[in-house]
Amino acid sequence: METTSASGKVALVTGSAMGIGLACAEAFAKAGYITVLADIKEPVEQATKLAAEGCKAVAYRCDVSDTQEVRKMIDWIVSAYGRLDAALNNAGIQTPQRPMAEITDDEFDRTVAVDLKGVWNCMRYEILQMLKQGGGAIVNTSSQGGVTGFPGQAAYIACKHAVIGLTRTAAIDYAAKGIRINAVCPGVIRTPMAEDLMRRNPALEKELVRDIPAGRLGRPEEIADAVLWLCSPQASFVDGHALLVDGAFSIH
Ligand SMILES: NC(=O)c1ccc[n+]([C@@H]2O[C@H](COP(=O)([O-])OP(=O)(O)OC[C@H]3O[C@@H](n4cnc5c(N)ncnc54)[C@H](O)[C@@H]3O)[C@@H](O)[C@H]2O)c1
Repeated sequence: METTSASGKVALVTGSAMGIGLACAEAFAKAGYITVLADIKEPVEQATKLAAEGCKAVAYRCDVSDTQEVRKMIDWIVSAYGRLDAALNNAGIQTPQRPMAEITDDEFDRTVAVDLKGVWNCMRYEILQMLKQGGGAIVNTSSQGGVTGFPGQAAYIACKHAVIGLTRTAAIDYAAKGIRINAVCPGVIRTPMAEDLMRRNPALEKELVRDIPAGRLGRPEEIADAVLWLCSPQASFVDGHALLVDGAFSIH
């Protein structure tokens, strides 16, 4: 049985220096979790700010594409805090916007290394720890592009589809062991990643908003609300689910 209070629970958020990951780390920390903010750019200021607000938050530098760095990070979390209750595997990069046949091998390989193998690496060591302690909750950040296509983003979109397949299969593998594994699929959320896309294509924001039935881009905090719920006891029978948080974009 999952306990209701987050007090004493430990959460890990990768890709938490900015954007969706930072909003989720802030939400975990404010809900009472001891929160590890992990990113390839160590989020020291972000963790310090949370700690100054009375939260238990700590920064950790990790490149999720590096299996050994991820293994060491999970070992460090367990040595420091004894357990890992919730994890959001969120670190991600985009491939340059180009038709599929023009994406280079290096661009494809790096996208897969971060967006797919990064999730694989994190899940593997999180699960091994959660098995030892008898349970936990994992959320993987896929995308609305995990269930639809998007022009010029073949490698990224392929990874986001794969993250859902990985989530579903791992959920089945570990459901009886008390580990719930879900995916969150954000629509277009106003973050540095989305701002960067829109800077490179100034007409894009207008086009996107026209196609989003909600009539606006999402906010990182709206993804955080969904992630916190997926990790909470209120979602105790939600497992292997890919939750779209996209203002009805993908069904339009
Ligand atoms: N913003 C959107 O509209 C949107 C939509 C759907 C899905 N997503 C997904 O949400 C996640 C977060 O996106 P965002 O918009 O907040 O992006 P962002 O670019 O604003 O932030 C991504 C973070 O990941 C970190 N990161 C990149 N490579 C890393 C690595 N190898 N190891 C560790 N950290 C690394 C970056 O330093 C950065 O802090 C990504 O997985 C993205 O694909 C975003």
